[in-house]
Amino acid sequence: MTTASAPGKIILFGEHAVVYGRPAIAAPVSQVRATAVAQPNPDSGVRIIAPDLSADFLLADAAEDDALAVTLRQIETAAKLSQLPDLIITVSSQIPIASGLGSGAAIAAAVIRAVAGQLGLAHLATDEWVSNLTYEVEKIHHGTPSGIDNTVVAYEKPVYFVRRQPTNLIETFAVKRPLRLLVADTGIRSSTKIAVGDVRRHWLANPDQFEVLFDGCGRIAATARTAIEMGDIAHIGRLMTANQRLLEEMTVSSPELERLVMAALQTGALGAKLSGAGRGGNMITLVEDEGMETAVRAALLAAGAKTVLTTTIKT
Ligand code: MEV
Repeated sequence: MTTASAPGKIILFGEHAVVYGRPAIAAPVSQVRATAVAQPNPDSGVRIIAPDLSADFLLADAAEDDALAVTLRQIETAAKLSQLPDLIITVSSQIPIASGLGSGAAIAAAVIRAVAGQLGLAHLATDEWVSNLTYEVEKIHHGTPSGIDNTVVAYEKPVYFVRRQPTNLIETFAVKRPLRLLVADTGIRSSTKIAVGDVRRHWLANPDQFEVLFDGCGRIAATARTAIEMGDIAHIGRLMTANQRLLEEMTVSSPELERLVMAALQTGALGAKLSGAGRGGNMITLVEDEGMETAVRAALLAAGAKTVLTTTIKT
């Protein structure tokens, strides 16, 4: 039996613009994880059990575009196997789906690692291999993914990412002062595919306006990297809020997200923004110390957050 897991993720800077080649920064959220267990199946076939999704089916019966089935077929092809052996794969996740925390990417990465381990192929399952296979699965979730989500969940490190041909730029960087963040869930589920598709339609209709917005996000992400390397917490916070304003102009914010952003800022948080595809899901806010964390958490809950978790970003 082989067990593997992968973390959730937040986008600190640059979501959406990253799809258009601008830099972005993402970090893992290690305390919420997707876990996969792979073990031999005494019966024939590959059986997938996902209690959280009320799913229990055989790979042979799965729909063409089922994400778990695509994940398994990716492994089959990448490992050059004519057919996977008889396995039971059990998947569970603490990461809420469609909430901007990368649940789809984390589930795929966990399944890839668990199955590769169970097949004696752990040597193949480098972070890069897991990231590349997860990317193929991400295409089902949202058509034109930038590649940042699969990268951060597979490497499980904060990354500075630029979508590029022939290979993406993926850099790790020093975090001089750990960043204490609260991650608050609006409770509203939102499809990444729809949000990314809507931004594309706006960009096609108003290319000049959207290129300016994307450039603004890219500049913020590049400046934020330097601020993170220098430990300039106040500047990082201001850049987060500036990024939120651009995301609002991109039409991917929502009244619920903005209520949480405002509650955090009015309580003294250093900065706040939505994280991920937006329109719902989670927002993040930067706090200086434990006292500020307690006050901002209470304000977020009072403003309608369904859950608030704390995560600290370190090198
Ligand atoms: C989703 O976590 C981030 C987006 O920029 C989409 C992507 O990068 O693929 C909205």
